[in-house]
Amino acid sequence: MKPVKITETSLRDGHQSLIATRMTTEEMIPILGKMDQVGYHAIEVWGGATFDSCLRFLNEDPWERLRTIRKQIKNTKLQMLLRGQNLVGYRHYADDTVEEFVKKAIKNGIDIVRVFDALNDPRNMKKSIDVIKAEGAHCQCAISYATSIIHKTEYYVNLIKELELMGADSICIKDMSGILKPYDAYQFIKEIKKVSDLPIELHNHCTSGVASMTMLKAIEAGVDIVDTAISPFSSGTSQPPTETIVEALRDTEYETGLDILVLDQIADHFKVIRDRYLADGILSSKVLFVEPRTLLYQVPGGMLSNLVSQLKSLNAENKFEEVLREIPKVREDLGFPPLVTPLSQMVGTQAVFNVITGSRYKMVPNEIKRYVKGFYGKSPGPISDDIRKLIIGDGEVITVRPADLLENELEKAKAEIPDLYESMEDVLSYVLFPQIAKEFLEYRKFNSYEKAEGYIG
Ligand code: CO
Repeated sequence: MKPVKITETSLRDGHQSLIATRMTTEEMIPILGKMDQVGYHAIEVWGGATFDSCLRFLNEDPWERLRTIRKQIKNTKLQMLLRGQNLVGYRHYADDTVEEFVKKAIKNGIDIVRVFDALNDPRNMKKSIDVIKAEGAHCQCAISYATSIIHKTEYYVNLIKELELMGADSICIKDMSGILKPYDAYQFIKEIKKVSDLPIELHNHCTSGVASMTMLKAIEAGVDIVDTAISPFSSGTSQPPTETIVEALRDTEYETGLDILVLDQIADHFKVIRDRYLADGILSSKVLFVEPRTLLYQVPGGMLSNLVSQLKSLNAENKFEEVLREIPKVREDLGFPPLVTPLSQMVGTQAVFNVITGSRYKMVPNEIKRYVKGFYGKSPGPISDDIRKLIIGDGEVITVRPADLLENELEKAKAEIPDLYESMEDVLSYVLFPQIAKEFLEYRKFNSYEKAEGYIG
């Protein structure tokens, strides 16, 4: 017997992938107690885009959400997604912010931190890993899965060995674009199992249509944990459905032991929520359709739809195929970055510029220049001198860990909002998203004043 463990993603990646991370804490609360009874290995509830979305769209305190969930889910491990030195934001933060953020995430209820870096540069994960370990939480290191002449099994095996030495307690294969195919996954996991005793978890997306098949072959190869989402928030650009995977493994050596009747009740709760977002138009059928071109061009589904709208706004929809062919060339020029946020957007934009202007790298976004200068970390493969000159001229390339160049930022942040913050958590929200966190903190202060004065009940 080799029971497979299940991590439920509906409360983070499921709704992030299908409804732009709009699920509210209120919508989650009534079902949390039931979810705690299922026997999941873990429930992913925090990090990724949820932090930003709480503040930006929902007028919610992300820290309060975490504490609320922790209060209701007493037995099951809570998991979050951390973008290495980017935390849950979109730039590198200074080490003092990383240290305090990880400490507070764990203190407020997180048991397992999944940490990754878009470029698979371990230097961008080092600080987070050190703090996760020091705080006694489970440190899961994720590798961003990509394909290229650089991204062969040997590359990943070396990366995994390095992450293991740095302190990883488990490894996640993070296939954000859904391009890992069944037989490749089988080979890949067999190879990893030869060199590492760490538990291996598979995280993939159904975008291209292969995810469930890949998951099954990964299980046959010995993967320990898989990420699934309860059916109403599964499939499309999300994960494979929990109930389907659980039943597929029923009465086999991989039996998960999860109770399908409890899962069914949980699905009923989420169906109502899904249908509401469907009626609002927030859940678009576009994210539910299979997009096999993802496999053909190795481009994530979200990036394809971004390109379409980008070209539309430029009145150049007829250039779509040309841009698709340009993307792999840009990727090669830039040393084969995996197409994950923010690199996917950057590579996409550069490909559009190259095609529209008719002259490659005549127009270069600032982010691409910063990338070539090394401010995002080390590119997986080399960037040729010719391409570098074309993009940054004689500009300097840094070779140190990018965050080494950042000065501590927490004290400065405190001084900027002395009357607004009530806790370190507030200060962290402000450092991560200054403008929107400030608006949220002002809104909260005003509301509590109104309440205290008896204006609102
Ligand atoms: Co994901």
